[in-house]
Amino acid sequence: MAAPDQALFRSVMGHFPSGVTVLTTIVGEQLHGMTVSAFCSVSLEPLLVLATIEKTTRMHALLLESHLYGASILGTNDEATSRFFADDRRLAGVEFAPGSYRIGVTGCPILPQAIAFLEARVQAVYDGGDHSIFLGEVVNADVLRDDPPLIFYRGGYATLRR
Ligand SMILES: Cc1cc2nc3c(=O)[nH]c(=O)nc-3n(C[C@H](O)[C@H](O)[C@H](O)COP(=O)(O)O)c2cc1C
Repeated sequence: MAAPDQALFRSVMGHFPSGVTVLTTIVGEQLHGMTVSAFCSVSLEPLLVLATIEKTTRMHALLLESHLYGASILGTNDEATSRFFADDRRLAGVEFAPGSYRIGVTGCPILPQAIAFLEARVQAVYDGGDHSIFLGEVVNADVLRDDPPLIFYRGGYATLRR
């Protein structure tokens, strides 16, 4: 059986809507964040989540050092933040301006405008082709506001109507 090509695979998976997080970490003094939609709940006992990170990213190298991440779940009005943390041009400036974040219990930055956030310690890293799967045990989490989530769907942003 012939496997589908990448374009079809992308198109099919684009029909599966996801939320958008800014995944963050800290190594020494260095704070880093990147937009991640491949993030999901795994287990309730213990509390586990996973994030799937491309091996070529700066985040991948930093997570292998820090073994810690924060995930700030973006609300519907935060498309600009999603675009910012997915754009390499941010690396030429300051990723986390003073006052635009707070530091969580793990030391990872948390975005105060997030609708909810959690922090996790990496328990295992699994190979996932050109990505790695970072399984994290949740050590802190909270819901911050009631706004609808930002949705990524078919290569663009959408919102949830209920
Ligand atoms: C909506 C959206 C979702 C994304 N989700 C992921 C993801 O789940 N995993 C990933 O590796 N990259 C994802 N990316 C791409 C990264 O955000 C982008 O490559 C980023 O610039 C990498 O940052 P870094 O190399 O500075 O760490 C996503 C981009 C967008 C716009």
